[in-house]
Order: sequence, then C-alpha cells, then structure tokens
Amino acid sequence: MGYPLDKTVRFVFMAPWNEGVAMNSSELGMDKVVSSEDFLAAMRGAVTPVSIVTTNGAAGEFGLTVSAVSSVSAEPPLVMVCINRRTGAEAAIRSNGVFCLNLLAETQVALAESFAGRSKTLESYDFSSAEWTEGVTGSRCLVGAVASFDCQIDSVIEAGTHSVFIGRVVHIETTSAVPLAYQNRMFSKAIPLA
Ligand SMILES: Cc1cc2nc3c(=O)[nH]c(=O)nc-3n(C[C@H](O)[C@H](O)[C@H](O)COP(=O)(O)O)c2cc1C
Repeated sequence: MGYPLDKTVRFVFMAPWNEGVAMNSSELGMDKVVSSEDFLAAMRGAVTPVSIVTTNGAAGEFGLTVSAVSSVSAEPPLVMVCINRRTGAEAAIRSNGVFCLNLLAETQVALAESFAGRSKTLESYDFSSAEWTEGVTGSRCLVGAVASFDCQIDSVIEAGTHSVFIGRVVHIETTSAVPLAYQNRMFSKAIPLA
C-alpha cells in the first residue's frame, strides 16, 4: 500500500473549530495538551521578519505591525499575513480587499513600535511619521523598506483568533536595506554570519 493519506487527512482536520471531522481531539485523548501560554513561550524562539501591513479603500486607511507573514507561492506570486480579528485593520483589509506587506529595515524599529500602538517616541499608527508611496492597490508602500508586496486579496481563512489573508502580489518595491528581525520579544538585525 502507498502513503496513508486517509490518516493524514483525518489528523490535519481534527481542529476543534472545524465541524464534520472524522475524529475530534477528545476522541484522540489530546484535549488541552498544549496551553496557549506554552505555545506562546515556545513560539518566542522563532525568528521572524517584522512588517507593517497597510490597507486603503472605502473602509479606511490602516497600518499594523505584524510578524506572522510568509511567502506562499511564486506561480502565481502569493503572500500570507495573519491578523487578529479584534483589530480594526483586520476588518478594513477584509472590506478593502487589498493590502501592502512592507518588510521593515533595521532602521525602522520606532515605526514598528508605532504601528503596534506602543511607541514611546512616535504617535501610534501615524502615517506622517514616515515616507510612503501609493501602491497600485492604493495601499501605502513604505519608502526604505526591504520589500513591499502590494496585494489584492486572493482568499481569507479564519483560523482561531486570526484571519489568514492570502494576497496576490500585483506590485513589488525592493531595496538592499538590512532586514529587521524579532525574537524572544526583542528586535535585532538580520546580518549574514561572517
Ligand atoms: C513585533 C510584533 C509583531 C506582531 N505581529 C502581529 C501579527 O502577526 N498579527 C497581529 O494581528 N498582530 C501582531 N502584533 C500586534 C499588533 O501590532 C498590535 O500591537 C495589536 O494588535 C494592538 O492591539 P491593542 O491596541 O488592542 O493592544 C504584533 C506586534 C508586534 C510588536
């Protein structure tokens, strides 16, 4: 027999918020094995880029600092960003149908703090703190960012507390700036090992 596809599919779809699964976590004896505290503590070990996702349109203009982003596909070019549904940015991105994912440079820490609503030096969520260009979608592209991926929403997946927005990239800007990284609740810069 080949690969046990049936078992794999049953495992993948056992999330408790999905209905109609073959086996739920209780039946598998895996109830509350992992707490959100343990999950967050372990995930602090992950090194992530730091981005500001922006959106603009009928639902208004928003920007939010995010670390939960990834490339999804090159053909077609797709990226993903995970945003908490408690935020105004989530509703605006969903309604506007567009976003721009700006990968920050190591010189842009204050901006990262501002668009996370916790800067000591800048106004929170204040676009006038930096220079931006208008992307093809109308969302702002950050001048000096490592890369800006201007996107139309391809699909949205609700997962736990967050929405996963998958964006079709329609325009790109890049620079050779050193990327900003985040790990263990601290910012650092991503530089090559000697
Ligand atoms: C480094 C960093 C990464 C973050 N990553 C995300 C993320 O991926 N998704 C998200 O929804 N919020 C993320 N946040 C949180 C938001 O930027 C913002 O701080 C939060 O939504 C503010 O909520 P509050 O004003 O209700 O406290 C991140 C914050 C920081 C500082």
